[in-house]
Amino acid sequence: MMWGTLLTSFLLLSVGSANDACRIVPQGPEGDAFYQPPASLPQEDHGALIWYRPFTGTAAVSGGQNTLLLYTQEGINGNQVATSGYMVVPDGDAPEGGWPVITWAHGTTGIADQCAPTRDTDPSDSTTDEPLFEDWLSKGYAIVLTDYEGLGTPGIHPYLIGNSEGRAVLDIIRAARTYEPKLSNHVVISGHSQGGQAALFAAALAPSYTPELEIAGTIAFAPVSNLEIEIPILKNLAIDSLSGTVALILRGLSVANSSLDTSTLITPAAAALYPQTLTVCEKGLDANSSFGGLAGDQLLQPNADLSGIIIGLTDNDASYLKIQKPILVLQGEADTTVYPFTTTDLVNSLKGNGADITEKTYANTTHTGVIAAGGSDATNFLTQILPATQ
Ligand SMILES: *[C@@H]1O[C@H](CO)[C@@H](O)[C@H](O)[C@H]1NC(C)=O
Ligand SMILES: *[C@@H]1O[C@H](CO)[C@@H](O)[C@H](O)[C@H]1NC(C)=O
Ligand SMILES: *[C@@H]1O[C@H](CO)[C@@H](O)[C@H](O)[C@H]1NC(C)=O
Repeated sequence: MMWGTLLTSFLLLSVGSANDACRIVPQGPEGDAFYQPPASLPQEDHGALIWYRPFTGTAAVSGGQNTLLLYTQEGINGNQVATSGYMVVPDGDAPEGGWPVITWAHGTTGIADQCAPTRDTDPSDSTTDEPLFEDWLSKGYAIVLTDYEGLGTPGIHPYLIGNSEGRAVLDIIRAARTYEPKLSNHVVISGHSQGGQAALFAAALAPSYTPELEIAGTIAFAPVSNLEIEIPILKNLAIDSLSGTVALILRGLSVANSSLDTSTLITPAAAALYPQTLTVCEKGLDANSSFGGLAGDQLLQPNADLSGIIIGLTDNDASYLKIQKPILVLQGEADTTVYPFTTTDLVNSLKGNGADITEKTYANTTHTGVIAAGGSDATNFLTQILPATQ
């Protein structure tokens, strides 16, 4: 009885290749306590598994075993932080060499902790991605899905800060391979919107940050890019559909750069709403009663000096990355969140940096619609660069 309890509650894991030490990884606590890490985090290399527990949230994927993970990554300040996410392993036996891995980077949900996909309680939120995940699982891929730094866990999520996102996307693979040694080191990186940007940053970081991983390539759906061009344009437009996102962008930049005082850049009406970026998820920010009721030209002061913002946005623009492995970019032509012109520009820039990159566009397809419209092209690319039976 006692042994049974112990055996189901702990994993004895071999960690730290240097000294071959064994560490006991406990099952994590129930409820929100799962997201509060122990005071002292594992001090070995980033990507350590802190704890785990079975995952049954609304984002759980059918057709496999879902496990919630808390793990370490290098945070924006260079120290180890705890980041949450989950993994899904196909039912049945692993192939020889282990299940190939897809690491998925999600699109914008917000900055507040309850906006983390693993903490989300709105079942409608998982409907766009889940059919794709179920297809990948059925084809024999394991999937790992980070929440990102500070999203669900202590600290403020550095929204759209590329290196923070990229490290979250890579370190969850290490943690997942600790939990389930039958995951192979062959990986495809993928993501949508914010996660498209995150996927590209992860691809650029992987050779130095997680050199043990063999990255086969990257699949980016409607990746965010070129915001340093877009935000100054939006500032003068009477469009309110992106104001919630712009507010999150300002918050994310100021998390990464403490000398950037965004409060001096926004109007009094926007300043009154700005605290909501820390407490309300994207859908709520887009409502008329929030930033959705404020047009772009009512958000930023007409004479605001945007130079500090532009530096931050340029630093986090995926256009400047050097990526070695093949990339597929999928873009809806009717996307009014990530505009097609920004994606074409991104693709041309990456090509100019030497990337092997292909863009596919989809007529009459929206920002969220591109996941369904481009799903079969994405899967064809996936099975070519990383066949499921190795
Ligand atoms: C927001 O307000 C506009 C008009 O001001 C209205 O057309 C629209 O339906 C409203 N949207 C929501 C979600 O309430
Ligand atoms: C941080 O913000 C300040 C003030 O706008 C700016 O001068 C500086 O260049 C920014 N630093 C980075 C790394 O973005
Ligand atoms: C575009 O998509 C919408 C919604 O799916 C549909 O109603 C409309 O007929 C489509 N238009 C074209 C030109 O295909």
